[in-house]
Amino acid sequence: MHLKTVQRIELPPAADMHVHMRQGDLMKLVAPTVRQGGVDTAYVMPNLVPPLTTVDRVLEYKKDLEAAAPGVNFLMSLFLHASITPEVIALASAAGITGVKLYPQGVTTNSDAGVADLKAFYDTFAAMEKHDMILNIHGEVLESLAPPGMTLEEAFLPTLKSLHERFPDLRIILEHTSTAAAVEAVKACGPSVAATITAHHLYLTETEACCNPHAFCKPIPKKPTDRDVLIRTIAEGNPKFFFGSDSAPHLLHTKNDAAPGKAPAGVFTQPFATQLVLLALEEGIERGVIAEDAVSEEILANFLSRHGRRFYKLPEATPTKKIVLERQGAAIPESVRSADGSVEVGNSRAGDKVFTLRWKEA
Ligand code: NCD
Ligand code: ZN
Repeated sequence: MHLKTVQRIELPPAADMHVHMRQGDLMKLVAPTVRQGGVDTAYVMPNLVPPLTTVDRVLEYKKDLEAAAPGVNFLMSLFLHASITPEVIALASAAGITGVKLYPQGVTTNSDAGVADLKAFYDTFAAMEKHDMILNIHGEVLESLAPPGMTLEEAFLPTLKSLHERFPDLRIILEHTSTAAAVEAVKACGPSVAATITAHHLYLTETEACCNPHAFCKPIPKKPTDRDVLIRTIAEGNPKFFFGSDSAPHLLHTKNDAAPGKAPAGVFTQPFATQLVLLALEEGIERGVIAEDAVSEEILANFLSRHGRRFYKLPEATPTKKIVLERQGAAIPESVRSADGSVEVGNSRAGDKVFTLRWKEA
């Protein structure tokens, strides 16, 4: 297949292993966009206000999501916090909660209740290892803790390595990898360590992220060389790397009205999640980062659907359900908004031409 010229692609439904669905009216607006982006399985982040730190609240939230977006398999996570003891891990595992998200305190949106001292959670990690729960990591350090000249993500990598050494059977996912160094670090770990790659880190760099509020997110997009390593990593087909959009909706006015450099962090890609990955890979081909024929249907299905499901020990996608992508000249609209216009979120890459996506169920 030559991605640049292909007119029609048929793929298994995507599994998006990192989504932000928010609460209330914003949740009702964004949850239905999961399927629009070709996704049937979504791993939901717990950084709500307040964060999801009890099993009951997670289960309640799951019900709300299922009501807002029927047909999506929502996998749930807890927010790592002092109250997440080994006993809570046992309860969470019995209740079907999939994993626990570790946010170093203060590194991103709604992470003030995050972790300041990792050692305090060693018993919790041991319980997660025993119950085979996943540890999802926002792998960045606070700006004040990074050595000069080193990115916040690179400065976190020794912590990833030491956690993996201490808990070798704990399945760990380094979320939204944004640097060549992180890709190397994940490859150097054993098979229990994997990483998600977003759509937007495949097309944004620091040049856009610094100055366009709709391109600003954590981890901050880096150099063109980092972006291109992520693209090559997908084309290599390594099963340690899979899709997690980190689509992070913020109300349009909070982005547009923010003072320069002060917009809330998060890029919204959910309604075109699959298409934005395709677009970024196409641009990678145009720049000569990967070969014309490097992106086969197999490579796409592995990255977007199979690798993530396998790492999470989920069944394969139902073979009778497919997503069909066709070039019909459609462009990404400016925003997604509620019927009465009161809730509105700006789309990443508004105006750009993308494949049109439809679901095919035999
Ligand atoms: C996320 C959000 O808005 O919740 N923001 C982001 O920039 N990615 C949080 C996160 O995943 O860091
Ligand atoms: Zn996120």
